[in-house]
Amino acid sequence: MNELIRIEGVKKYYDRGKDNEVYALRGVDLTLDRGESIALAGVSGSGKSTLLHIVGAMDRASEGKYFFKGKDMTSASAKELAKMRADEVGFVFQQYGLQEDLTVEENVRLALCFLSDRNKAKERREHIGELLAELGIEGLIGRKVSQLSGGQKQRVAIARALIKEPLVIVADEPTAALDKGTGKDVIKLLTEKAKKQGIALIAATHDTGILDAFDSVLALENGIIVKQFPFSV
Ligand SMILES: Nc1ncnc2c1ncn2[C@@H]1O[C@H](COP(=O)(O)OP(=O)(O)O)[C@@H](O)[C@H]1O
Ligand SMILES: [Mg+2]
Repeated sequence: MNELIRIEGVKKYYDRGKDNEVYALRGVDLTLDRGESIALAGVSGSGKSTLLHIVGAMDRASEGKYFFKGKDMTSASAKELAKMRADEVGFVFQQYGLQEDLTVEENVRLALCFLSDRNKAKERREHIGELLAELGIEGLIGRKVSQLSGGQKQRVAIARALIKEPLVIVADEPTAALDKGTGKDVIKLLTEKAKKQGIALIAATHDTGILDAFDSVLALENGIIVKQFPFSV
């Protein structure tokens, strides 16, 4: 069985005082296998980021269960969640989240600083050049991020997510700051790399032009999944 992630009946509410709770998620079930990619579609405010934060161990569900590698993370300690984020999760954000004054290599290296296995961090450092080459940006290795285009920056962010060999990549509107063609290229790279390396990928997007790069699409509406459809190849 290749199941990596299982979410059961997850609800998330933000308490704004007694009887005034805001429900961001109202009961979500999903499973994600290694090598599988899922797009979360839905209008702004439908709960996409909230769900991604829970999958990426950045936040906890208010109710329901979250299993990662078969382990119940629902009541994991803050330390356990931080370890999961550092070792197993790669993040890609709309606004890249890179250090603009550092070089491409330095940015990618930063992701390794948090790995709990120091030997692995050292070993992975040797692969930065090769990974940048696979992403078509090897020529930029010594360049400051502030000098790059949006598409180049997002490729660097993808390299930063991939370098530690995570089990899951969480991407929040990864193409929202890019033009259509560049967005498609970047998503193709991300989904293909994830498939090849057996990484589970979950990405929130508004961009209907990139949905066919994913194995399936979940449509979120008002905190619940209203539709699920595969993109069979
Ligand atoms: N920290 C927060 N405090 C209160 N409400 C929040 C918070 N984060 C998100 N929400 C609310 O939860 C709902 C879902 O938000 P979000 O997950 O960011 O949606 P999306 O990413 O699809 O735009 C929205 O109504 C939003 O206002
Ligand atoms: Mg969002």
